[in-house]
Amino acid sequence: MIPPAGATRDPLNPHRPGSLQLPVLPPLSLYVHLPWCLKKCPYCDFNSHELAPSQVPEKAYLDALCADLEAALPLIWGRSVHSIFIGGGTPSLFSPSGIDRLLADIRARLPLLPACEITLEANPGTFERDRFKAFRAAGVTRLSVGVQSFNDRHLQALGRVHDASQALHALQEAAQVFDTYNLDLMYALPGQSLDELDADLDAALACQPPHLSIYQLTLEPNTVFAKYPPAVPDEDSAYDMLDRITERTQASGLARYEVSAYARAGHRCRHNLNYWQFGDYLGIGAGAHSKISFAHRILRQVRLRDPRQYMARALDPQTASLAVAQQHEVPRAELPFEYLLNALRLKEGFALQDFCERTGLPVTALQKGLEQAQAQGLIARDLHRVWPTARGYDFLSDLQSLFLPASTPSGGLKS
Ligand SMILES: C[S@@+](CC[C@H](N)C(=O)[O-])C[C@H]1O[C@@H](n2cnc3c(N)ncnc32)[C@H](O)[C@@H]1O
Ligand code: SF4
Repeated sequence: MIPPAGATRDPLNPHRPGSLQLPVLPPLSLYVHLPWCLKKCPYCDFNSHELAPSQVPEKAYLDALCADLEAALPLIWGRSVHSIFIGGGTPSLFSPSGIDRLLADIRARLPLLPACEITLEANPGTFERDRFKAFRAAGVTRLSVGVQSFNDRHLQALGRVHDASQALHALQEAAQVFDTYNLDLMYALPGQSLDELDADLDAALACQPPHLSIYQLTLEPNTVFAKYPPAVPDEDSAYDMLDRITERTQASGLARYEVSAYARAGHRCRHNLNYWQFGDYLGIGAGAHSKISFAHRILRQVRLRDPRQYMARALDPQTASLAVAQQHEVPRAELPFEYLLNALRLKEGFALQDFCERTGLPVTALQKGLEQAQAQGLIARDLHRVWPTARGYDFLSDLQSLFLPASTPSGGLKS
């Protein structure tokens, strides 16, 4: 779209001239945050709030999402959406008719590419027979099932509302209803032994999931686990567990393509790949993050975290755009680090041309860091691509920190 005359001089107009030169805009994804859960898990620092299902203000929240999306449209005029991720919280707490309305609202305002991937996060504890079929009928193409473990003792220690048999039923239904789905697991759980991890892997791999995400349990600040830390396996044991995971997933046909993601051919998550490839995303909903590129700058935004405040702002026609709590332009000096924080998570790394296209910077902006990383054996490269070596993958944060801007103390940046 051509901006109106004079608009490019407005200091708030993202189309105005700037020091970056993006020759093309990257693919655009949409993230929708639904912030409620049946029960808050003691390890979770996501923007999720405990609420009885009958108390979820489904209609008001969907109205707020719609108003929020409309207020954001001028930032993405003319662009098509290539993936949607409905995350949480526990999106499967919303009724299928609510999800149907959400997707209809989105389709009425934004062009979706024909192959648009639409993922919904689902918790086994909110599973009812036929609910998954109704999500599929609403247009969801991919389910992400949060299992975490198949061991009832560990599920209890994690404060989960479901047990292993509910998880298995949810996975069976997901496999029957969807062409593709993801299974989420965590490892290095309180009191977990290597044999118990093996038993979790036995159960997960027996389901033959098209996609598996496995995260090491982290004790996050401001969670119950941070206040009352459980005894978790030490660092060496956690490394042994990761080795076991890598070995066993590979043997069963699931290729590790990102630090925590494993997939069969054709089943990688397009939405997450877009994050890791430094694509764009508009995030709507309480606490959602956005990254949006323009010809001469890259903007980041965060929506208000508190669901009630978010709804109040988004639903007031005078203040819908004020549902955005923070907005800033990514400083030029931070772009190499931001790009590599994402791209080096991918086993296949990145193309140098993609770096230039997505940051608007010349390849020389990476030169010093690449030379250091190569000298330390952390990356390999050819004329076109750069990828982490096995050693680089083992020491990923050291590798990424080689690209921090000169004046920033190591570890001082947030993604
Ligand atoms: C925010 S949750 C949303 C999915 C869904 N509500 C659930 O819990 O199953 C997404 C995933 O992040 C992972 N996760 C959340 N907190 C974590 C933590 N502290 N350490 C490691 N992984 C975590 C879990 O595997 C979870 O499935
Ligand atoms: S169900 Fe998921 S989002 Fe909700 S509190 Fe637990 S981990 Fe967090």
